[in-house]
Amino acid sequence: MSRVFELDHVIVKHYLGILRNRDTDTAQFREALDNLGLFLAIEMTKGLATYPIAVETPLMTTRSEEIRERIAIVPVLRAGLALVDPFRKLLPDVSVLHLGMYRDEETAKPVAYYNKLESAPVVDSAIIVDPMLATGGSAISAVAALKSVGIERISVGCVIAAPEGIKTLNQKYDDVTVTACSIDDGLNDMNYIVPGLGDAGDRYFGTV
Ligand code: PRP
Ligand code: URA
Repeated sequence: MSRVFELDHVIVKHYLGILRNRDTDTAQFREALDNLGLFLAIEMTKGLATYPIAVETPLMTTRSEEIRERIAIVPVLRAGLALVDPFRKLLPDVSVLHLGMYRDEETAKPVAYYNKLESAPVVDSAIIVDPMLATGGSAISAVAALKSVGIERISVGCVIAAPEGIKTLNQKYDDVTVTACSIDDGLNDMNYIVPGLGDAGDRYFGTV
């Protein structure tokens, strides 16, 4: 059974409100998504493996920890690009593996258009980032792509997730953890998340 985490923080709720508001302009939308990405990055990296080190403070030697785990951030293009910088801020040398896919508007199935994973560096784990987990099709396709190149420890970070998508992902891959700023009510008949925020990529890139 996979684990699902929903962030619980007043600032997350505040910025979710800004993202959801249809009157939020592109600049405000970007700022809100950047801020939510930072919360996701902090939450999703808190269990990274470390090794103990000794540090000389100006006063004495003390114990500290250094991150040992090699991780990759995997943005699902386009909208996932919005969540890369918060992770890079915390982990400046993190590998970034891009996966390009879009949802076919008729079928809501993901259509892959970019994947260079065969030349990816060796990592211990990967975090797939995409603001929206709707039907779960894109996340399942991204997990399959990573597993096909031998990356087994995978988690998914999103801003808004639909229960249907979490369930479908869970049925296919019960070892994949999902972390979301909000788990919304569900999908409408166009497979958009409700209440949701509309089209994340269009709103973030100003292409509405
Ligand atoms: C959106 C979103 C996810 C996908 C989620 O991408 O960013 O990748 O839909 O839907 P799913 O869970 O039903 O697969 P979109 O197709 O709008 O592409 P974009 O990021 O290029 O705007
Ligand atoms: N993709 C989005 O950007 N929004 C949704 O609600 C569903 C898929």
